[in-house]
This record gives sequence, structure tokens and C-alpha cells, in this order.
Amino acid sequence: MPTETATAETEPKFSLSNFEVKDEDLPEFRDMQFEKINQLELDHPGASDQEYRTRRDHIAGLAKNFRETHRITDVEYTPEEQKVWQIVATRLEELQAKHASSFYLDAKRKLGISTERIPQLSEMNKRLNELCNFRLAPIEGLVETRAFLSWLSYRTMLCTQYIRHPSRPEYTPEPDIVHEAIGHIPNFTNCDFADFSQFIGHGARIATDEQLEELGRLYWFTVEYGLVEEDGELKAYGAGLLSSFGELENAFTNNVERRPFDLEQVINTTYDYSDMQPVLYVIPSYAYLKETTRKYIESFSKK
Ligand SMILES: [Fe+2]
Repeated sequence: MPTETATAETEPKFSLSNFEVKDEDLPEFRDMQFEKINQLELDHPGASDQEYRTRRDHIAGLAKNFRETHRITDVEYTPEEQKVWQIVATRLEELQAKHASSFYLDAKRKLGISTERIPQLSEMNKRLNELCNFRLAPIEGLVETRAFLSWLSYRTMLCTQYIRHPSRPEYTPEPDIVHEAIGHIPNFTNCDFADFSQFIGHGARIATDEQLEELGRLYWFTVEYGLVEEDGELKAYGAGLLSSFGELENAFTNNVERRPFDLEQVINTTYDYSDMQPVLYVIPSYAYLKETTRKYIESFSKK
């Protein structure tokens, strides 16, 4: 199992009330020990494409360098990779114009995320840092839940840089730059959302295994599949919705039951990640999500 080795000395001092994370507060990235997270699963569309695998390994290697240098290496994406981005980003943009929250659409513009080219993590990291003291750190694969979420307590999201296989631009079984940049990253330009993410991260550090499972559900039904009410309309803000044609369209059909957000219900609702989501939860605002989550995480230390 991959492990995350932040020690007691590197525990953040800021936790639930102080959101100011300075560079010197961060643990040594080189201490992050992840085992075998760069493996490509057999059901991946690129599994039998040796050229794709070599390229993915190369980009993953750049991400790994970050842990030694603390510097994000830009990826020189190939014309074929840019093409995949252009196809996906263009089609998603059409759907998002109708279904994404206006905050999200604005955030994409603020970060310079366009349909033209794959954005670099370094550019978006700089902007996020200026806006809400949030950071991105490249990672070479999928990290287990507690380690991944714990990094959010440092207002840092671990992000992949490689892109999905060109044979299926609409699909990826793993996080890729489309999922990160079009799905997750714009949300961190909202400081309430960034604070909420920090609470989730803090919770992951102190949670029992059972609480961690609940936290995973909260993450799933908000960060990945959340809907928000905006001017009387329902809009998507979850990364799993915003970065998937199928899910984004499906979310607003009669196939889906859209319920008002209820924390108790959310943390007790199981989900199936391999299928379209039949139930989604609607938050009234990011500020509400932040405060509800703060109270929930505070309850962890009292149990
Ligand atoms: Fe995600």
C-alpha cells in the first residue's frame, strides 16, 4: 500500500481556523513515499499501446521529479495530445455553457483554461496561490484516499499531468489532466471551496477508518459530483460531472434524483464509481458547505 509519511512535526498548525499556509509550513515533498501508483490498469484504453505507455511513464517521471526539486516541470505536450484536449475541452465547453455554475465558468477564464491548449500546472498553481493561497503538486498516479485527502490540509491538491488515450477522448478510467484542469482546479479559485477542501484534508488526517469512509462519501457527492443552486437554477460544480460528457448530461435528466444536501444522508450513502450516478446532492452555497463541513470535522476530535 502507498504510504504518506508526514510526521507529527509536519502536522499543520492551522487546521480548522487558520487558512494561511506558508511555503515553510509544507512538509518535505521528497518524504512522500508512494509505491506503484504509476501502474496502468489492464482496462485502460492505452494498456496495449506501448508508445502511449512510454509517453505516460515519461510524464509521470516529470511529476515525480517535483518531490526532489519542489518545482513543477512543464510538459511539452505533443500535437496529438493537444488534439485530444481540444476535442474534449470543446465538447465539454458546449455542455458547460448550459450546466456549469457561473462561478466555475468565470474561474476557468481567470485561470486561462481554454479549448485551445492544455494548461500547465505551473501557471494554474501560480494563480491559485495568489487568489486563495492554494497549491497544486504533480503526482504520477492515483494515490490512496487518506494520503490524497491529507494533502488538502496543506491547501495542496495532487494532480496528474498526462492525458487520456486518443482512441477514447470521452473516457478515462483514471485522473488525467482533463479531469484535473477542467474538473477540479477551477473550484479552488473560490476561497470558501479552498477552505472546505482544507477541512476535508484535516479530517482525513485524524479520521478513524470508518470516518474516513464517510469522508470519502462527502468528497464524492460534493467535490466529484456536487450540484449547487444558483439564482434558482441547478448547476454542476463537481469535477466528475464537469469533466465527463455523459455524466454532465445525465445529471440534469429524469434518470437522476437530485436531493437537497444533507450531511448525515451524504456520509451514509454508498456509491458505485463504475456507473452513472443515480443520486446527486444540491448545496445552497459553497459557504454553507464549508461551515457544515467544519462542524462535522470538529466532531471527529470529540468522539
Ligand atoms: Fe477527481
